[in-house]
Amino acid sequence: MVVGAQATEVDLVVIGSGPGGYVAAIRAAELGKKVTIIEKDNVGGVCLNIGCIPSKALINIGHHYQESLEEEKGENPFGLSVGNVKLNWESAQKWKQDKVVNQLTGGVKMLLKKHKVDVIQGTAEFIDNNTINVEQEDGFQLLQFNDVIISTGSRPIEIPSFPFGGRIIDSTGALSLPEVPKHLIIVGGGVIGSELGGAYRMLGSKITIVEGLDHILNGFDKEMSDIIANRVKSAGSEIFTSAMAKSATQTDKDVTLTFEVDGKEQTVTGDYLLVSVGRRPNTDLIGLNNTDVKLTDRGLIEVDDSYATNVPHIYAIGDVVPGPMLAHKASFQAKVAAAAIAGAEDDVDLHVALPAVAYTTTELATVGETPESVKDRKDVKISKFPFAANGRAISMNDTTGFLRLITETKEGALIGAQIVGPGASDLISGLSLAIENGLTSKDISLTIQPHPTLGEAIMDTAELADGLPIHV
Ligand code: NAI
Repeated sequence: MVVGAQATEVDLVVIGSGPGGYVAAIRAAELGKKVTIIEKDNVGGVCLNIGCIPSKALINIGHHYQESLEEEKGENPFGLSVGNVKLNWESAQKWKQDKVVNQLTGGVKMLLKKHKVDVIQGTAEFIDNNTINVEQEDGFQLLQFNDVIISTGSRPIEIPSFPFGGRIIDSTGALSLPEVPKHLIIVGGGVIGSELGGAYRMLGSKITIVEGLDHILNGFDKEMSDIIANRVKSAGSEIFTSAMAKSATQTDKDVTLTFEVDGKEQTVTGDYLLVSVGRRPNTDLIGLNNTDVKLTDRGLIEVDDSYATNVPHIYAIGDVVPGPMLAHKASFQAKVAAAAIAGAEDDVDLHVALPAVAYTTTELATVGETPESVKDRKDVKISKFPFAANGRAISMNDTTGFLRLITETKEGALIGAQIVGPGASDLISGLSLAIENGLTSKDISLTIQPHPTLGEAIMDTAELADGLPIHV
């Protein structure tokens, strides 16, 4: 930046174009604002380019490969067999990039253009409460704004004693490995470790998960995560819980992790080491120290119900504010902040119905209250229905897991739901809608579900809550 340079006046600036930023930009434009979005990498952010979307593509390839292998070995129960299953890794990666990631990011670019959002490629840094400097490949520009939404997301946390590099990779590296690892070691069995571990396990890797807590998938209860853990272990991979990673060394062929379990040191050697121990908010490199914006002691930006910071025209959404780091949370907050800036607020509360999903080999999903969060309440009922009693699940040969509803005993209002099993990621949507709209177990059990569907498990669980079960 050149001192004394002239700033261009703009209306609303959005920093970052992930599921928070691009949604905020489009919604604000729909509500009449003139929007400028600044992006330092690719439009679409982590989620579309190197996160949620490509990982789901990889998981999908894993499922297909696994099923084909079972068919090749004649291990499926349908009497189906095929010969000579081969995975062309290069084609798989190309499909993931060209047909999935590029199609979606291209779509977002088109939507931004359609809404006349100016996209500036560059790195934004606050100069003061009203000015941003954008460093670009061929220079810089100063923008003086009326309002700004910070949606700069997060990045993987690095373990200082073994930083990323070579065979020690983060989630981005794990999505574009040159080969399917023979043995993938994973430090951190949270959502990223378990999802990518599941994908590579289905693609033929042995996996070893080293997790500090007493169970993997810490966002879900142990009854749910145990189903995944047992599945991982039964397939010849291994999980060490209450185990802390200590150090790692690598050669050009492999990498060795040293970790501690029950006070004893152990080592494991594999060809790659994925470190997925959480993400940190990108609030440290954007010049917030030049503004009056307040941060929490964890480096997150403090916001009110409209996602305004203590500086009223500076807003923040997504991974940079407190709460779970979820793309759909960022998109929701984007719409609330855009409406507040455009003077079009309706209901700005984030209700209890914030769903979360783990796209593990068997999916997990949760929304609202959990058995843990209601453990001290006497006025709730927990009802659980197994997929083993669902006709569609049986005909799919996928009966793992259960659907659980948490209802209040007085009126039967649904306040929480968890699903482990086939279609969990899609089934949870209906339950979010039910909670958001204050539906009761009676409302749900009296809603007709088509037969045979996995969705009937929702009706069956609600009947259990009503005390009138048919199928168990
Ligand atoms: P995470 O917080 O889910 O899990 C990290 C795990 O690493 C924890 O269980 C922690 O106990 C463990 N850990 C930390 N240090 C360790 C050490 N030295 N040795 C052993 N274990 C250690 O974080 P993750 O999986 O990196 O995901 C980051 C964020 O991305 C999450 O907040 C998640 O919500 C989001 N995400 C969401 C997805 C989804 O919604 N499906 C998919 C992927 C990520």
